[in-house]
Amino acid sequence: MRTNWLLIFFCLPIFLFSQGIQITNGPYLQRIGENEATIIWTTNNDAISWLELAPAGNDSFYATERPRYYNTSHGSRVIGKLHRITVKGLSPGTEYRYRIFSKEVTGYAGHQVLYGTIASSNVYSRKPFSFTTLDKNKKAFSFRVVNDIHGKADNLLAMLKDVKKENTDLVIFNGDMISTLNDEKEIFTGFMDTAVELFAKEIPIFYTRGNHETRGRANTRLYDYFPGSNGHFYFAFRHGPVFFLVLDSGEDKPDSDIEYSELSQFDNYRDEQKEWIETVIATPEFQSAPFRIAIMHIPPSGTTWHGTQDVARKFLPLLNKANIDIMLSGHTHNYKYIDKGDDQNIHFPVLINDDETYLEISVNSQIEILQKDMSGKTVNRHVVK
Ligand SMILES: [Fe+2]
Repeated sequence: MRTNWLLIFFCLPIFLFSQGIQITNGPYLQRIGENEATIIWTTNNDAISWLELAPAGNDSFYATERPRYYNTSHGSRVIGKLHRITVKGLSPGTEYRYRIFSKEVTGYAGHQVLYGTIASSNVYSRKPFSFTTLDKNKKAFSFRVVNDIHGKADNLLAMLKDVKKENTDLVIFNGDMISTLNDEKEIFTGFMDTAVELFAKEIPIFYTRGNHETRGRANTRLYDYFPGSNGHFYFAFRHGPVFFLVLDSGEDKPDSDIEYSELSQFDNYRDEQKEWIETVIATPEFQSAPFRIAIMHIPPSGTTWHGTQDVARKFLPLLNKANIDIMLSGHTHNYKYIDKGDDQNIHFPVLINDDETYLEISVNSQIEILQKDMSGKTVNRHVVK
C-alpha cells in the first residue's frame, strides 16, 4: 500500500506537467482598423506565440505556407501567458483568415531556452477564424452596444447570443463590464469568455472604460487586454459613414474620496483628454464624416456628482460645437433619452442605455437605434438623420 501512495506522489507532478501548453482564453480581436488588427489570447503556461494569416478563400489553410506574425516587444519575441499579435499592412474592408500558435517555454539551461509542446487553433476539422477590416467607404452597417454588465455573463449571453458577421460589424462594450478588477482572470470569467464563445474571435470589440474598471488591484492591467489604437482608453475610429469618438469619463466621485485610497488622478486625466478631443474634432477626418457618434460611459448630465460635472465642464464646450449626432452612455442603470434641446447644456441627443437592455444600431443614410430587452423585444426606437 505504501508503495502505491509513493508512486502516486511522485507521478503527480509528472502528470501535471505533461498537460503541456493550452490556449486558455481567446482569441479575440482588438484594435481593428482599415489596415491593422490585433489578436489576443492567453495560455496556461509561459510561451512564445505567433499568428499565421491567409486571405479569405475556399482553399485549405494548409494549401501553402502562410506568413507568420510574432508577439514582439522592442525587437524581442515575448515570453509570457498573455499573447498579443498586431498585424499591419492590411487592406480596408477585406476578409482575412488566421490561425494562432503558442510554443511552451519550460525553462532555461544557461542561455538556452527550453521549449515544450505547441498549442494552436484548429484548421483541420473546422474553418479557420476570420475577420474583416474596417472600411470608411462601406455604405451601411450595424453594430451593438451593451454596458454595465458587472460580471453578469448570463445577461451578456442573452443580449448578444444572435450576434454574427451577417448582422453585426462590431460590438461596443460601454463600460462597467465588471465591478472591480482584482484579478485579470475576472475579465474572462466576468464577460470575455462569453464574448469569445459568441463572436469575439471574428467580430471586433471596442472597449469604453467605465468607472468600475478603474478599481481593484489589477485595474492598471486592463489596457493590456483592451488596447486602444492610440495608446489610450480614449480613441477614435471610422467605419462606414460613422466617425466614432470613444471617451473615458473616469471615476464618478472626487479624486480625494476615501473610496479611492489616494490612487485617483482623474481630474488631470480628463484635462489631458480634453486636449486630445480638441485635436481630433479639428481634423478633416472628423469634420468630413457623414455621422459622428460619441461613446462615453458616464453621461454628461443627470446628477451633481463630480465625475458627471467634470466631463460636462471639460468636454461639453468642445463636443457642443463638434456636430455630434448622438452620444451613447450607460452608468445609471436606467434608460433615458435626452433629446436635443431637452438640456440647455447639451447640444446633441444623449441615449443612456439600461444595464439590462442592448442597443442594436443600423447605419445607412440615417442612424436607427433599437433598444431591446433581454428577450430581444424592442422597447424604444430612435432615428437620427
Ligand atoms: Fe458606471
